[in-house]
Amino acid sequence: MRSLVVKSCCLFFLILFVSQHYSVSATKKPLDPKKPCKRFVLYYHDILFDGDDVANATSATSANATGLGNFNFGKLVVFNDPMTKDQHLLSPPVARAQGFYFYDLKTNYNAWFAYTLVFNSSDYKGTLNIMGANIAMEKTRELSVVGGTGDFFMTRGIATFETMSIEGFKYFRLKMDIKLYECY
Ligand SMILES: *[C@@H]1O[C@H](CO)[C@@H](O)[C@H](O)[C@H]1NC(C)=O
Ligand SMILES: *[C@@H]1O[C@H](CO)[C@@H](O)[C@H](O)[C@H]1NC(C)=O
Ligand SMILES: *[C@@H]1O[C@H](CO)[C@@H](O)[C@H](O)[C@H]1NC(C)=O
Repeated sequence: MRSLVVKSCCLFFLILFVSQHYSVSATKKPLDPKKPCKRFVLYYHDILFDGDDVANATSATSANATGLGNFNFGKLVVFNDPMTKDQHLLSPPVARAQGFYFYDLKTNYNAWFAYTLVFNSSDYKGTLNIMGANIAMEKTRELSVVGGTGDFFMTRGIATFETMSIEGFKYFRLKMDIKLYECY
């Protein structure tokens, strides 16, 4: 009788332990925004084609503004832009940003971005896919890193944008602070 009590008691604790163990491993550890598994800052340079600068331009309007408001609503720009490690346009690019943005607000300049960072250097090989609203009125904007390939296999994270320079509709430069929270 005694041994039966001991056995069932042991079994009870075993089940308790196993179920706790599984419930712990089934819930993901919360991510700490301050502790990315990988982080780097790159600068994005966009030189908009004006009809003459074929050799220099890296982006072009592929659909014109619609006339809804005065802030380019509906204008679509396709780009293949250099990404550099420092702010200088002429620094050797470490990646290309390939994608588009379009203006989507009647009352101010506001754009929505979707693009791939294509890396082909000794540091990194692979791609990062980034998309989201670039709310131009805010000093910094957060876009989602929705996935990756190669050295960035299955990654996810946040890309924080900050505008560093704007020269009319000819050129602008963004700082992109890329923080990844899932690294494999
Ligand atoms: C695009 O729209 C702007 C403003 O509506 C106009 O000034 C410009 O000529 C248009 N460009 C083209 C290529 O149609
Ligand atoms: C990556 O760089 C290598 C060496 O410069 C080159 O041979 C290859 O074509 C490049 N690949 C892409 C996708 O640009
Ligand atoms: C290329 O465009 C940038 C940005 O507008 C400008 O600073 C630079 O002088 C241009 N380079 C040439 C060779 O036109």
